[in-house]
Amino acid sequence: MTPSNTRPNLPALAKYRGRHYLDDQDYSAEELLELIDLAVRLKALWRTRPFTPFLLGKSLAMIFDQGSTRTRVSFETGMYELGGHALYLRPGEIHLPGKESVGDTARALSVFNNAIEMRYCDPRVLTEFAAGAEVPVINGMVLTVRDPQTGKILVHGSHPAQSMTDAMTVMEKRGRIEGLTIAWVGVAEDVGWSDVLTFSRLGANVRVAAPKHSPLTDDVCRKVRANCDKWGTSLHVTDDPVDAVTTADVVFTQMWWWDEDDAEKERYMTLSQPFQVNEDLMRHAAPDAMFMHCLPAQRGQEVTDAVIDSPASVVWDEAENRKHFQKGLLLALIGIDDLPADPDLHEIGRALLS
Ligand code: CP
Repeated sequence: MTPSNTRPNLPALAKYRGRHYLDDQDYSAEELLELIDLAVRLKALWRTRPFTPFLLGKSLAMIFDQGSTRTRVSFETGMYELGGHALYLRPGEIHLPGKESVGDTARALSVFNNAIEMRYCDPRVLTEFAAGAEVPVINGMVLTVRDPQTGKILVHGSHPAQSMTDAMTVMEKRGRIEGLTIAWVGVAEDVGWSDVLTFSRLGANVRVAAPKHSPLTDDVCRKVRANCDKWGTSLHVTDDPVDAVTTADVVFTQMWWWDEDDAEKERYMTLSQPFQVNEDLMRHAAPDAMFMHCLPAQRGQEVTDAVIDSPASVVWDEAENRKHFQKGLLLALIGIDDLPADPDLHEIGRALLS
């Protein structure tokens, strides 16, 4: 999707103002496509005008209880390029967790900021935080919560800022998502679940091969099938990575481990080994298939150098697009009160005001 194949006019965007972005499934397919359209236009504008101060004087609080390279830096530089300011807040620097309730922290940060981005291990904290916040709250990734005794999934993790960036990247490369086939191979939780939900909502067929310890859960399958029913597309779940990638236009994977201890990490790596994305596997995908990975990558584990460094790989565009998609999201959710003086900002400015 380039500016030449975006819609002729940006749609009215004021309807997004004040909304949370906790889950992209809270947005219709039409709304998600509008947000991608906005991001594509912002990226085109950025090429000639890196500094576009739509959000002059506005502030974004960013809470991270785990590390991040892309999410932290893309939100912070994105907010700067929009003329605003971003605060990077870690546990120990604010009173969450511990000295203050989640709701009180949300109220306090709402007093000082125009939006709040949150990466937090426990999705329940994000939900509670958003309920107490008086400004838009954006999910910067939450992790799956399991019962420590049984391993049963209690709450699903998600990363909808990543999955919508992935959708933007595919739109940019292929001009559409409707009718394409995506394959998710390997550990499916969090980013995988978000990707299959986002792409099915936007009209893609979905094929998944995931290890048993991190599957496409019944809950995610049900939601993906509901999305597919609207488009006449399909969900295919298999144990066989070759079956999953056959005919796929896009092949996705992600890291096999995240915060586990060494023993659990070893176990996950052994269970996930058959799901490595390598050159042999990619030969079964469509001849022009793209490879995508949210990063960070563990080269030689879930993906080989030969794939991630191949011409089929779009991982660096995918990383860059985090900033462009999130700039659009920040603009849509925070909104503007006045048309910027700069004529180059008028098209987007008018859409934001209408
Ligand atoms: N993809 C992603 O969220 O990367 P970071 O963990 O570096 O933010």
